[in-house]
Amino acid sequence: MNEMNQDLCAVLLDELTIKTRIAELGAQLSEEYKDKYPILVCILKGASLFLSDLMRAMTIPLEIDFMSISSYGTGTKSTGVVQIRKDIDADLHGRHVIVVEDIVDSGLSLSYVTNYLSKHHAASVKICTLLNKPAAHKTAIKVDYVGFDIGNEFAVGYGLDFAEKYRNLPYIGILKEEVYL
Ligand code: IMP
Ligand code: MG
Repeated sequence: MNEMNQDLCAVLLDELTIKTRIAELGAQLSEEYKDKYPILVCILKGASLFLSDLMRAMTIPLEIDFMSISSYGTGTKSTGVVQIRKDIDADLHGRHVIVVEDIVDSGLSLSYVTNYLSKHHAASVKICTLLNKPAAHKTAIKVDYVGFDIGNEFAVGYGLDFAEKYRNLPYIGILKEEVYL
């Protein structure tokens, strides 16, 4: 039993469920991006585990790059103010970009990112997120590829954190309210 489990009220997505869905997404992306040599832009740190599994579920040539933004601090609500901490290294001109994110909550972070990346003259910019909270969106954002739609609970594990903790849980759980309230 994982000792972090005591902070969870439930397991939302177990390892096999995550793995199975990522295999499906990888197959879909491999088909849709065939001959396009896409570049996967991972949003650090939360999407790092998702990227590493998703790219191995893809069977076409691709590149990866990393971007780090801050929008949250240590709380659980988006500030709406986005700051770039680490920019991409690649030249995106004419490239097909897939932004790989852990979770879309208000959508404020990702709408900033996609807007920013499309200024780099990419051929296309699409979003692939592991988790999506449709009821929490505060902006009209088009999320192109979604692993799982979830409710408004606070999810941790498989890269997702609360105050930098729980990222190493191999599954996704719902954090007990008493831990963050
Ligand atoms: P947004 O700008 O509100 O869409 O915030 C997206 C970011 O907030 C994600 O990349 C996460 O870092 C964080 N976030 C939002 N909801 C959760 C959650 O349920 N668990 C962990 N992090 C979350
Ligand atoms: Mg994040």
